[in-house]
This record gives sequence, structure tokens and C-alpha cells, in this order.
Amino acid sequence: MAKRITFATRFGTIVAVGGSVVGLGNIWRFPYLAGENGGSAFMLTYITISLLISIPIMLSEFIIGRSSRRNALRSFKKLSRGNRLWMSAGYMGILSAFLILAFYSVIGGWALKFLLSSIAGTFIGATPESIATGFDAFVAGGWQPLLFAFLFSAACAAVVAAGVVKGIERYNKILMPLMVLILVGLNVNAFFMSGWREGAEFLLRPDFGKITWRVGLEALGQSFFSMSIGMGAMITYGSYMKRSENMFRVAGTVAITDLSIAILSGMAIFPAVFTYGISPTSGPELVFLALPNIFAQLPGGYLVAVLFFMMLVAAAITSSVSLLEVIAAYMSEELRISRRKATILGAAGVFALSILCALSQIPGSGLRLLGSNIFDLFNSSTSNVLMPLGAMLIVVFAGWALGRDKFNRQLTSEGRYGTRLLRPAVRFMIRFVIPPFIALLFLAQIGFIK
Ligand code: PHE
Repeated sequence: MAKRITFATRFGTIVAVGGSVVGLGNIWRFPYLAGENGGSAFMLTYITISLLISIPIMLSEFIIGRSSRRNALRSFKKLSRGNRLWMSAGYMGILSAFLILAFYSVIGGWALKFLLSSIAGTFIGATPESIATGFDAFVAGGWQPLLFAFLFSAACAAVVAAGVVKGIERYNKILMPLMVLILVGLNVNAFFMSGWREGAEFLLRPDFGKITWRVGLEALGQSFFSMSIGMGAMITYGSYMKRSENMFRVAGTVAITDLSIAILSGMAIFPAVFTYGISPTSGPELVFLALPNIFAQLPGGYLVAVLFFMMLVAAAITSSVSLLEVIAAYMSEELRISRRKATILGAAGVFALSILCALSQIPGSGLRLLGSNIFDLFNSSTSNVLMPLGAMLIVVFAGWALGRDKFNRQLTSEGRYGTRLLRPAVRFMIRFVIPPFIALLFLAQIGFIK
């Protein structure tokens, strides 16, 4: 067999993994979930889980991907010699990719729409009321969200089908640092808002009484979503990783970047939420209601808005690319069709689901499944059910079924890194801490533990 292509440099690896990890999860999903789940209680749980639970899970995925050098499903098939239980982890990952991409494209479409609005100068002189009514009309109209979701998906499919992922990565090297810079700027600006104190206290003042099982599960789901773990994207990317790559360093760097961007985003947005009287529990619209207000009053707001939404769309595309990659790699290999065809077919399937998501958001639309609108159902079932379950299978497989030797060799890159402290600590977490922790949160959810 031909030697599998690998990322050329460590920097290239970090940019690719970082491109998957940093996305709408940081800027859109994190703030609104924090708002719905008590602010600081959510934030603290989220940070703890990301550092102690999510990093070892990401390492497990790298281990599985790099030792098999196959796509998400084939990895399990090959390493377990066709065991049904482990293969189900692969199938679940592919299902997750479809469902996530379906609602992700709708929000990616919102970001695209906001990019055009900011170019058109719509936010100049806007008031909180005009922003809210404009946004409601956009979603309720129905056809615009569909159109923008379509444009967003088409852009992602074009990127994957044409194999220009490399090109996108080149832009990412510039766009990601710029994103951090703008977020830092927005944080400085937030400091001068009348709602700064309230916003900062909401996110930062510890209130352990508010930490419930529900908050724990939502924080776990958000951490998995934001780190792109529990569904095979990092298995796929791990399969492109060089044998000599230090995976501790890759996972650590992207985890810290991911956390920092989420926190910066929250700290930019909540002062505005309180300054402009937006409800922290507004849900998925929160960020889209808050941001235009910031740009409306900011000196040079026009340019900052355009740059910000450009980067948001770019960050969303690089994340979607990693999701579509899971589907395209699977379909082209299993159905034996060309990569191009697989991408187009996969994207078309996803878009059919996106239509349901977008239409179900129109107020009063009857599009409901299992008692909630389809957008919410896809959004919460992936993060709160499928990804934790997938992560559970992934760590149990890596920690208990893969074999100690293979595990250790992959984790340390043949004895190169972290052999003394990190290897035993990570292996201990993977085997003994993470599986019971995920199980505990699940049992608590279905009311087993109070
Ligand atoms: N991590 C991405 C984000 O934060 C979303 C994502 C989830 C990407 C799962 C790949 C896999 O936007």
C-alpha cells in the first residue's frame, strides 16, 4: 500500500487540528450555553472538563487514528478485527457528522448573512430594538436562512471536493491570530461598557451551588463539541499525523487555544448582553443579537464588523471541512466512488437535513421531532448523547482493548515524549477516570442519581 499522506510539519498539524477545533462552537455555542446554564457555574465546569477529560480523549483519538492510518470507521474495523461493538463507534461518528453539519450549516449561513449585512453597513447606527426585529424577520422569513445555509454548504463542499484544504490552511495561519487580536480588542472595548461588571461577574464569580448534573452534562457536551472529539474527526486527523509528532504538544496547544478563544468570546459578549438588555438565556440567537450592538457603537465599527464576520465564516468553514471530511472519506472508501462524487453526495444529504433544521426554526412551524424542534434536537442530541457515548467507546477501546504496547508506543511516539509522567497519568485517566465520569453524568441525566 502507498504510504499514507501526512501533515508536513508540526505547525501544519496544529493549524489543521486548530482549524477543526476553533469555530462556531467557541463564538456562537459557548456563550449562549453559558448564558442558559448559570454563567460561571458552566464556565468553571467547562474549563475543568476540557483540561482533565477532553485532552485525554483527543489523545485517544490520535492514538487510534495514527495506529490504524484509516478513516473513522475503518480504524475500528481494522484494529478490532471487525468487532461489531467497536465498529458501532465508527458508525455513530458518521451519523454525528451528518447531524452536526446539518445544523452547523444553518448557523454558518447566519454568519454569512451577517457578513453581508456588515458590508452593507446595516449595523451602523442600529439600536438593540432594530437589531432584534431585523434578526427575527430574517429567521421567520424562511427563505433567507435556507439560501445562506445553501451558500455556506456549497462553499464547504467546493473546498473539500477541490482538495484545496491546503489553501484554506494557509489562510488560517493568518486568520486565527487575527481573530485572537480582534477578540482581545473587543474585550478592551467591553471593559468600558456600563454592563462590564455585571457581565464579568456573571461569567467569573464562582457559584458552586449552581453546578447541577444538568450543567455538568451540558458543559461536557460543549467541551466535546468545541474540541471536535467523540465522533471520529480527530481519528481521521490522527491518521495523517507523523509517527514522530509529539501528540501531547498538539493536543495541549489546540486545547488551550480553543479554551482561550471561547473565554475571550464570552468576555466580549456578556458585557454587551447586560449593557443592551438582552436576556442571557436567549438561546442560539444570543450572540447574533449582542454582536451588532457592539459594532454599532464601536469607533471604526464598520471595518471591525466586516473583519470579524469574515473570520467567523472562515473559522466555521474550516470546522465544517473536518466534519465533511469524515463523511467524504467514509463514503468514497466504502461505496468505492470518487472523492468528488462522495463529497457532493454527502453534502447534498446534509443539506436536505439542513432544510429541516432551518424550517423548524420558523416560529410556529410544526416541524417537531421527539417533542422539540429539529434544530434543537440535532444540536443537543449530538453534544449531549452521541458524542459522550462515542467518546466513551473511544476511551474504553484505546485504554482496554487496544493493548498496552500499541497504546504506549503511539502515545509517546515510540518512546520520544512524556514517558515518565504524562504517559502514566494520561493512561490512568483514560482507563479509570473518564469512563465512570461519563457514565455518572449519563445516569444522573436519566434520573438514576439525584
Ligand atoms: N469544534 C467545531 C467548533 O467548535 C465543531 C466541530 C465539532 C468540528 C465536531 C468537528 C467535529 O465549531
